[in-house]
Amino acid sequence: MEPQESKDVKSEAKPEASLEETKPETKIAKTEAKSEPPPPSSAKSEESPASSNGSAVALAASPRDEVKKKKGVEYAIRATKVVKRFGPKTAVDGVTLKIKAGSVYGLIGPNGAGKTTTFSMLAGFLEPTEGSLEVLGFAPTQVDSLRSRIGVLPQDALLPSSDKVGEFLIHMARLQNIPADKAEAAVRTVLEEVDGKDWWNLRCSALSHGMAKRVAIAQAFLGEPEVVLLDEPTAGLDPRVAWEIRQVIRARKGRCTLVVSSHNLQELEEICDAAAILDRGRVVASGSINELTASSEEVHVELASAPVGLDALRQVPGVTRVEHQEMDAMGYRVQGDGEVVIHFDKKLTNAESVIGQCLWILLQNQVRISGVSKGRGLERRVMELTD
Ligand SMILES: Nc1ncnc2c1ncn2[C@@H]1O[C@H](COP(=O)(O)OP(=O)(O)OP(=O)(O)O)[C@@H](O)[C@H]1O
Ligand SMILES: [Mg+2]
Repeated sequence: MEPQESKDVKSEAKPEASLEETKPETKIAKTEAKSEPPPPSSAKSEESPASSNGSAVALAASPRDEVKKKKGVEYAIRATKVVKRFGPKTAVDGVTLKIKAGSVYGLIGPNGAGKTTTFSMLAGFLEPTEGSLEVLGFAPTQVDSLRSRIGVLPQDALLPSSDKVGEFLIHMARLQNIPADKAEAAVRTVLEEVDGKDWWNLRCSALSHGMAKRVAIAQAFLGEPEVVLLDEPTAGLDPRVAWEIRQVIRARKGRCTLVVSSHNLQELEEICDAAAILDRGRVVASGSINELTASSEEVHVELASAPVGLDALRQVPGVTRVEHQEMDAMGYRVQGDGEVVIHFDKKLTNAESVIGQCLWILLQNQVRISGVSKGRGLERRVMELTD
């Protein structure tokens, strides 16, 4: 990120005893209330967004609050022409998104594309400068209606270092309106989910980066929220832990709407149903992963020897175009002898049938094949679309 100017921090919205003041935009803060339920009025009013500290406390409130629910929304999230400016800097520039309830949705884009700013607006930590946002049918700043229905993992979330994991999560559970007699069970469930059931008595300061990330994810999952926003849940994790976190996210699929950002595009391709690619604050492409990767319109065959028999490929029913590419879209040489890209009409055929027929023809022509893929891969697509 570029140097931060004020991130719309509203001091009155800050919790009373927030910790780790060094990085206010990313900490998971806490109020002073420890054993008592949170006070009747929330730390922030309906009208003012919470501080941008990425804190779950922003959604916290009294168990006595009436929660209005709009049930059965088709789209868990709708953003319409959303703009966010920080002084002269436009971080988000007219973003329109529709995220289906129950789906896993990826927010993709290079550094500075506006992903975290979008997350912060969806979480109600920041207000859009222009445009409208709805989460479960409410403006994200309507915290009384959304409290406990959204879980948030801020990018680089910091935990309160002097707290023990169990006590911190119990506190967060109470802030999510989970009744006192159910809080411990709820915390144990989410800790188990992130494979941290033995961490109850560890101080947050004693956690490794990966363990802290998992505790922060557990916090986002507390209380079965209907919408979970995960800003880079696997950043900085070793491959095994990243894989485990992906399994955790997968296991949540269908139970809630998940919005995930990551720079690991293969990971997003694996876990997401749909995604939006952002670049410099704008949506440059959005749709299902199949649409984004053209996996139901193209087959790519990597070659280990020169292409022979391409004319025969063009005769395969449903095939509309066949190209031999030595360079990829970025102008880099494709390994081996390049690749054959077979375009087809998805109304007439499908990838599996094209692969079967085309490989047969290539093999009969003694062509050596080193790889086959449906579509062009999310990574390639993002490279094509972003600077
Ligand atoms: N408080 C702020 N004040 C000024 N500019 C900001 C502020 N917050 C974000 N920006 C700018 O807005 C743009 C988008 O930032 P954002 O953090 O949303 O990007 P991102 O897509 O999350 O990037 P990354 O992949 O690095 O996390 C960047 O140019 C950033 O410098
Ligand atoms: Mg970010």
